[in-house]
Amino acid sequence: MPHDLLIRRASVIDGSGREPFIADIAIDDDRIVAIGDLDDEEAGTIIDAEGLILAPGFIDVHTHDDTNVIRTPQMLPKLSQGVTTVVVGNCGISASPVRLSGEVPDPMNLLGRAEDFRYPTFAAYAEAIEQAQPSVNVAALIGHTSLRSQVMDRFDRAASDDEIAAMRKQLETALAEGAVGMSSGLAYRNAYHAPIAEMNALVEAVGRAGGVYTTHLRDEFAGLPEAMDEAFATARHGQAPLVISHLKCAGAGNWGNAPRALAKLDDAALSHGVHCDCYPYTAGSSTLDLGQVTDEIDIFITWSDPHPEMARQPLKAIAEQWELSLMDAARRLQPAGAVYHNMSEADMRQVLSHPLSMVGSDGLPNDPHPHPRLWGAFPRVLAHYSRDLKLLPLTEAVRKMTGLSAANFGLTDRGEIRVGAFADLVLFDLDALEDTATYTAPIAKASGIELVVVNGVVSYRQGEASEHRAGRLLRRQVRLSARPSRTAS
Ligand code: ZN
Ligand code: CU
Repeated sequence: MPHDLLIRRASVIDGSGREPFIADIAIDDDRIVAIGDLDDEEAGTIIDAEGLILAPGFIDVHTHDDTNVIRTPQMLPKLSQGVTTVVVGNCGISASPVRLSGEVPDPMNLLGRAEDFRYPTFAAYAEAIEQAQPSVNVAALIGHTSLRSQVMDRFDRAASDDEIAAMRKQLETALAEGAVGMSSGLAYRNAYHAPIAEMNALVEAVGRAGGVYTTHLRDEFAGLPEAMDEAFATARHGQAPLVISHLKCAGAGNWGNAPRALAKLDDAALSHGVHCDCYPYTAGSSTLDLGQVTDEIDIFITWSDPHPEMARQPLKAIAEQWELSLMDAARRLQPAGAVYHNMSEADMRQVLSHPLSMVGSDGLPNDPHPHPRLWGAFPRVLAHYSRDLKLLPLTEAVRKMTGLSAANFGLTDRGEIRVGAFADLVLFDLDALEDTATYTAPIAKASGIELVVVNGVVSYRQGEASEHRAGRLLRRQVRLSARPSRTAS
């Protein structure tokens, strides 16, 4: 019998970190069925991959694509990078289980408008994904701030015992329906007043269900060490593995502290399963936060609801035009989006190359002028940081976007090239690979991505998405362990 798809003479990087090898790969239906010298085999589609690198499709562990996988199922910003799976629901914000009327609480507005929140249960969200059939697979976290939005009348306080019980019940239902874990965004004003007791009660439910806890820390500035300790304590209490979201040393006063933060991470990893994610840029992006307005760094406004005409300018320039202080200008712009140039290159490189970090874009797909990480994060790691700067070996860069990511989120048979694994694959030309998205022109497909296969279906080829979309909702099946994944660093 001929195979469905045969990729010949590829240089295979299998996602485990091992050295590349040349092989043919045969695919039947949605799985890899043979790897090796398959000269005599036939197939419906044969791809000559001589001189190209074949890797497992990239897993974007940090996204805010929650409503986009339904509203814009082509998912071109991700597919065009070679991403075949997105983890949605990060930073405390998820599209389900949420029903909203009126104003969308910050930063849930990053996910869409009030009418985009129409999934009162995780099951309803899962069904909408299956209906939309996005081009990429979706694994979903439940956001703590989203849970708060369903049971609390105001956010500037701790949840009561009854409210915690109500959130926990919704969370348990979602986990039982296949959510992979819970996220928090404790730095944001609508979650900041949640005390550790509130988090402990919820993360307990995550641990019991065998899910993962991810957190945008309460403080990424001077209070980073204490915020990391809080995250470790919560995850330990709940016996859930931990992923620290976009680990960074934010703010000019905090630059140079990456070695200390990573030593803390290493130390915690001795006794508990802890990892982090990282995007390969020195600017962050989110809603405009008055707490981060300062003249010490450059802040660029990407959108503003009341003043759309002021978007795509530095906050400083807007303040000058209005003859206002930075803070008063920021107040007048809200709600708004911003890019904050708040990290040091040296710190970011250390986090990115650390063995416990995974690559996650944190891209904001609803921003009209998005941070370039939305379209460029994955090729940038491979081309700029691995190939050009030799910051980390290519095999290790690929492991951080495939094998390690699948293991940490319990994505069975994903993130690796081996017989029996799902055929999520990316074929790229390392010499031609380039992230072309920039801060000034952020909407741009990467070059050098030759072919992307999702669940055995050729979904993207030389710059064009195919009309067949084959992404699936990946429901949590395995129980993740909170035990350390390694004993020494
Ligand atoms: Zn975040
Ligand atoms: Cu995020």
